[in-house]
Amino acid sequence: MLSHKVPLEDLGDSRRVRPTYASRGLATQIPRYEMPAESIGPREAYQVIHDELALDGNPALNLATFVTTWMDQEADQLMGETANKNAIDWDEYPQTVELQDRCVNMLARLYNSHDTHESVGCATVGSSEAIHLAGLAMKWRWRKQREAAGQPGDRPNIVMGANVQVCWEKFARYFDVEPRYVPLTNERFIIGVDEAMAMVDENTIGVVGILGSTYTGEYEPIEQLNEALDALCQKSDWDIPIHVDAASGGFVAPFLQPSLKWDFRLSRVRSINVSGHKYGLVYPGVGWVLWRDKSDLPSELIFQVDYLGGSHSNFGLNFSRGAAQIVAQYYNFIRLGFSGYKEVMSTLSEISKWLADRIDEIGPFDVLARGDDLPVVCFRLAENQPYSVFDFSEHLRERGWIIPAYKMAPDAQDVAVLRVVVREGLSYDLAEQLVDDLRAGVNHLQSQDAPSNASPVPTSRRSSRHSASRGGSGQHSPGEKKVRPVC
Ligand SMILES: Cc1ncc(COP(=O)(O)O)c(C=O)c1O
Repeated sequence: MLSHKVPLEDLGDSRRVRPTYASRGLATQIPRYEMPAESIGPREAYQVIHDELALDGNPALNLATFVTTWMDQEADQLMGETANKNAIDWDEYPQTVELQDRCVNMLARLYNSHDTHESVGCATVGSSEAIHLAGLAMKWRWRKQREAAGQPGDRPNIVMGANVQVCWEKFARYFDVEPRYVPLTNERFIIGVDEAMAMVDENTIGVVGILGSTYTGEYEPIEQLNEALDALCQKSDWDIPIHVDAASGGFVAPFLQPSLKWDFRLSRVRSINVSGHKYGLVYPGVGWVLWRDKSDLPSELIFQVDYLGGSHSNFGLNFSRGAAQIVAQYYNFIRLGFSGYKEVMSTLSEISKWLADRIDEIGPFDVLARGDDLPVVCFRLAENQPYSVFDFSEHLRERGWIIPAYKMAPDAQDVAVLRVVVREGLSYDLAEQLVDDLRAGVNHLQSQDAPSNASPVPTSRRSSRHSASRGGSGQHSPGEKKVRPVC
């Protein structure tokens, strides 16, 4: 989120944070947007901030996010112990590097890296950074191929569904690649294979397949994309790779759908990203990017950095970053193992299917995704209800539930939905409570003269502190902001 300098004269009484406590240290006022001239004690500083943060939503009831909100206490402890380590200080913290290496190895094998391939990868801050790195590798690889063939290499494009997460739009804009979006339809909320192939040409750096769409949790047909792209490339001299955005599905499919081919078993899948902080079950921010073989990562992108007494190869958009999340990922790998992840994912999947059935029973809903791929339930309101999904989402907020409502990506924007991401922490008990609240919400809104407009809730109806649950602000239609599903 971009923060702006606030004109102090507009603030009036809000210029200061004014705690009201009997304690002397907390009787002073603290300027809100200027650095305080005087120090205060650590206990006081803690209390002020702790109190302000109580205004945030309750993470346990935040069913909008894919990101982990609960970890073992032992993981919390390890993260606390490593909060002062910079993951980039390889010489100083060689054991942290070793843990990253082990994580990359485990993931490469989980994603069926072939014995003959020397897979490479690294930790990132999240899937967005991972995607930017993978996108850059595709762009450089494509340009080198074009140059080698004596062809111009200045008009790269990338083909993906209109349902991609905003990080792909960013990649295209920041790195000057033409985005070619396969439009959705009112019946298809993921990429269409034929439609994608029709957009591919000699300037295509890659095709994106999403393992778990942010909008509905559905897996895109990656094996079919692979076959279609193979057929297309055989007819030409193109060699177009697939990148799999497995931000969420990378920690679900290997455990729940092991026979589904989406990973390095497919010849065109050259790189994969996954968010450690989503179903990898680590607090934010850690992501991973892996290349099938080191030949898929152009060597020009790798920097040899001499730093603090050693020389190391580095590929990343950031330099310094916390080591704690990498340590926590390794903790989860050895603590849960394959069977532990499988058990967690199976339970989440069961709960999402149970929830989808209950939502069917409540009545005025049409369930579009019922946890068959990601453990996500996505549903819309049946036609002719006197209220919209946006009213419903707002109403649930009054009970503390954070369940986002949004319109689908182009060209399925007539479809507005609600989405529940089932994560660790949403027990059957809580899910039962949620069902009761959904039912009560329907009864309440049906008994009101609620305005039935299928438009997003205007910003003014939400307090600014809830704005984190809103997506970007791309163009939509006049007077309306585009509401994206959150991660
Ligand atoms: C499919 C997909 N790709 C990429 C991202 C971005 O991930 P991150 O938040 O880890 O940067 C998300 C976030 O939800 C996502 O759902």
